Amino acid sequence: MGAAVVLACRNPERAEAAREEIVKETGNNKVSVILVDLASLESVRSFAKEYQQKFSKLDVLVNNAGLYSSKRIVTVDGFELTFEVNHLAHFLLTDVLLPSLTVSMPSRIVNVTSEAQRSGHIDFEDLNGERKYSGWKAYPQSKLANVLFTYELARRLEGTGVTANCVHPGTVRTNFGRKSGGIMAVLVRIAAPFMLSPEAGARTVIWLASAPEVGHITGRYFIRKAEAKSSRESYDVGVAQRLWNVSADLTGLNQK
Ligand SMILES: NC(=O)c1ccc[n+]([C@@H]2O[C@H](COP(=O)([O-])OP(=O)(O)OC[C@H]3O[C@@H](n4cnc5c(N)ncnc54)[C@H](OP(=O)(O)O)[C@@H]3O)[C@@H](O)[C@H]2O)c1
Repeated sequence: MGAAVVLACRNPERAEAAREEIVKETGNNKVSVILVDLASLESVRSFAKEYQQKFSKLDVLVNNAGLYSSKRIVTVDGFELTFEVNHLAHFLLTDVLLPSLTVSMPSRIVNVTSEAQRSGHIDFEDLNGERKYSGWKAYPQSKLANVLFTYELARRLEGTGVTANCVHPGTVRTNFGRKSGGIMAVLVRIAAPFMLSPEAGARTVIWLASAPEVGHITGRYFIRKAEAKSSRESYDVGVAQRLWNVSADLTGLNQK
């Protein structure tokens, strides 16, 4: 579509390889990389700073990165890895990039969640899995957090010209879960032949990011280019507001 695209990646070699592949396949050379490690809030802030030095606006933000971990890993910020990368980092990144999105309104935010949100529950007493950790609890919790964040963000952005929606990409043959250890790593390998291609998995994300017919839609959950219902807990405004406040505290946004 000829858009200027910034790839937000943590690994310089993999990022450059992806950048070169996109340029080669599309002929669009307005593709660049800014490094970010979503397991570090400082890195998220410095990404946003660099972005804002280089670009005056942002039309679409896609919060896509996510992981499953069968072991409990603690980040440099002291948070459980899944909770920070899948939720807190996107929460912070979106907030710090909001001025760039607002100046280019109408603009869009697309959060990549998962049908795993259905079995998720926000355990406010143990968000970081300190008492009891399981990837099967942490991942669905983080994906439910993506949905709750999207809905609350859409409510807060009402009337600003910035929309926020979330999407389940399908079950996609990517690197997801492959290095996670445990049963997940085995399951994704066995199921690989039955999964969608990455191109098919990207379709609804790209559609939400670019299609004129969804430009005015906000605060919704999509699967296969159609609106879908998310879990009961995801529609609980009290839970969404509480998660927002806790996330703002944990990422330091309440001190700004
Ligand atoms: N695949 C599925 O079946 C499926 C189903 C439902 C939802 N989803 C969601 O789809 C999204 C994309 O996942 P995927 O399937 O494409 O998995 P993937 O192949 O593992 O890709 C995940 C991406 O996230 C990046 N990432 C992980 N940790 C990061 C960090 N600390 N900082 C910066 N980037 C980081 C990875 O970078 P590296 O290349 O450096 O590792 C990778 O590019 C996720 O949000 C996932 O929850 C996937």
